[in-house]
Amino acid sequence: HSEVSRVKNLDKIQMGRHEVEAWYFSPYPVEFAHIPTLYICEFCLSFFPSEKMIERHRKKCTLHHPPGNEIYRHEEISFFEIDGRKQKTWCRNLCLLSKAFLDHKTLYYDVDPFLYYVMCSRDETGVHLIGYFSKEKESAENYNVACILTLPQYQRMGYGKLLIEFSYELSKKEGKLGSPEKPLSDLGLLSYRAYWAETIVELLLATREDISIDEIANKTAIVHGDVMHTCQVLQMLKFAKGQHHLVVSQAVIEQHERQKSKARRRIEPSKLHWKPPS
Ligand code: COA
Ligand code: NA
Repeated sequence: HSEVSRVKNLDKIQMGRHEVEAWYFSPYPVEFAHIPTLYICEFCLSFFPSEKMIERHRKKCTLHHPPGNEIYRHEEISFFEIDGRKQKTWCRNLCLLSKAFLDHKTLYYDVDPFLYYVMCSRDETGVHLIGYFSKEKESAENYNVACILTLPQYQRMGYGKLLIEFSYELSKKEGKLGSPEKPLSDLGLLSYRAYWAETIVELLLATREDISIDEIANKTAIVHGDVMHTCQVLQMLKFAKGQHHLVVSQAVIEQHERQKSKARRRIEPSKLHWKPPS
């Protein structure tokens, strides 16, 4: 893919109170490339080449949250659902910004076929974008996530897992099993593996009766392949007396307890007010 080999064209990106370094090429118009800092309005995601210009914009910008329906609110976290067809400019700007942190896959600048699930944290100064995932309105492969991103200033704080958890809560409401679109980036795979392991081990430890791969898939909305993959990575699949069994080793239990002691934020399913789009 030609974009992968393209030279990084951005240096610093300033958004709200945060300044971060771009990681990869992103197809912003040429006049915005190779400048010291690209300024992005954290609410409408428009971009500007200078501080003066963004300040002028900020006085006029009327957006204080993503331009869609708030479908989830719990503690300081909100999720908004945004239709790419209805909010083309905002979604294209989101794609441009994301591409600066994604190198491996085609990013869809045709935003019409996607819904965007945007996670924000609310405080007295506004509703701040933390991350998002996109989802095809119709996925032949039953992918429940196309692209997923936590903005760099919020990474490694558990928000990626929160986004992933939310994507599976949507699948549960649809009565479907889901899986992220392939290929995943290295960071994407690490995060999914961590989420799958945590979710599956948690379920196994909470279940006294025998439980099949099918039942795990149905309870978690994680497709069979991803359940099997996780059980293999954790060496939980054992064959004995002519049958496959799931065995949770002491090492896996200890790792799970170390994870749980980090007490990450969780999605509260009762706070999701959403029906699958028809
Ligand atoms: N190094 C090692 N492990 C990492 C890691 C890193 N840099 N980033 C995430 N992980 C693993 C860890 O196991 C982590 O759990 P832990 O912190 O409890 O150990 C787990 O993934 C989840 O981390 P979390 O903080 O919930 O994720 P995040 O908010 O940092 O977001 C991504 C994860 C993938 C969304 C984020 O890295 C990102 O946006 N990357 C750029 C875009 C991308 O590659 N997206 C995926 C495309 S398919
Ligand atoms: Na993905």
